[in-house]
Amino acid sequence: MKIGTALTPSATKALLLGSGELGKELTISLQRYGIEVIAVDRYQNAPAQHVAHRNYVIDMTDADAVKKLIALERPDFIIPEIEAIATQALADIEKEGLCTIVPNARAIQLTMNREGIRTLASEQLKIPTSNYAFAQSFKELQAAVDNNIGYPCFIKPTMSSSGKGQSKVKSPDQLKQAWDYAKSSGRIDTGKVIVEAEIDFDFEITLLTVRALNENNEVKTYFCEPIGHVQENGDYRESWQPQKMSISALKAAQEIAFKVTNEIGGLGLFGVELFIKEDSVLFNEISPRPHDTGMVTMVTQKQNEFELHTRAILGLPVNTTLWKAGASAVILGGLNAQGVVYEGLAEALAVPGTEIRLFAKPEAFVNRRMGVALANAETVQKARERAVKAASLVSIKSPG
Ligand SMILES: Nc1ncnc2c1ncn2[C@@H]1O[C@H](COP(=O)(O)OP(=O)(O)O)[C@@H](O)[C@H]1O
Ligand SMILES: [Mg+2]
Repeated sequence: MKIGTALTPSATKALLLGSGELGKELTISLQRYGIEVIAVDRYQNAPAQHVAHRNYVIDMTDADAVKKLIALERPDFIIPEIEAIATQALADIEKEGLCTIVPNARAIQLTMNREGIRTLASEQLKIPTSNYAFAQSFKELQAAVDNNIGYPCFIKPTMSSSGKGQSKVKSPDQLKQAWDYAKSSGRIDTGKVIVEAEIDFDFEITLLTVRALNENNEVKTYFCEPIGHVQENGDYRESWQPQKMSISALKAAQEIAFKVTNEIGGLGLFGVELFIKEDSVLFNEISPRPHDTGMVTMVTQKQNEFELHTRAILGLPVNTTLWKAGASAVILGGLNAQGVVYEGLAEALAVPGTEIRLFAKPEAFVNRRMGVALANAETVQKARERAVKAASLVSIKSPG
């Protein structure tokens, strides 16, 4: 792999489609290797745009807009950070063979729609998942729940992330509301929702899985220590690493992660979400990119998930070893306001072993992730307490 000089004609360029907090850290990692980074989002001053070399604001679901920008910038790598992208445009660009879509266009297509990845995992690869069905109308949904799925169940738009449009339904009278919510709140309405039986898991993990080249230039699969996490309304609140689990469950988790990532192919880091119940492991979903719960690796691994993704993409060797136990806790907006101010940083950082990241999003919403607290400790339990404490000490206020 040859790397040019950023901002000169020899530059090796990466174009990020999506410029959130994960894109920001990825930009920093890429720039450490001298890569020229172009950050794209649907709004101005998204987190990665604060640190990238250049930025653009476009509608990333508009195939023509995506193609036009790629023709203008001619990047070596296109790195999708979000799911709502005109994936057909990426497939067309991949065919031309002029640049690498990370990890590849099919992965982006499969994972942007729950139907694609769920069908692949369950029906093609025969990997255990929750019992599920797809529905195109309320009638179909009702029939699927009555005949097959049962209560409690989860209703989700087939295209959405961070719990958007998702609800847990406990009884028949809540079903219509869940249908309406899923139909109106997905990023793109595909006309379909997925309904899944509730899994009564002991805990859930993200298994960060890296496909990278080894010293013989062969693709090898590497696993990070499992990351445990807590979600509220489908959105992550806390994560920690390592999550303790039985050897047989870990083995099953790695086998599933290997099967899915091996089928998807390409080079890069993947976040494989799994539910664990005793020794059995169920596949939930996969991100073909760094995962929000993986932000904890910024303090737990020498090579965090952004560094690992960068190295894998560039064909460089990786090391997924855990360094120290740690935890993360999100800092939510708590209010709707623009240009908010942050207080309490000194108090938060007085909690031993902590770090704080603020994403500088131009607008806060009550449940929008504005920052994250990270902590190390001798034990995961202690690290969780520290991260939660530090996050709670950061207060967000309107500027006026
Ligand atoms: N079938 C299920 N059984 C139990 N919990 C679920 C189920 N589906 C989703 N959840 C909970 O909701 C979270 C978010 O769901 P997920 O399918 O990962 O959506 P998203 O794409 O928004 O992350 C999961 O991490 C889990 O905590
Ligand atoms: Mg998820």
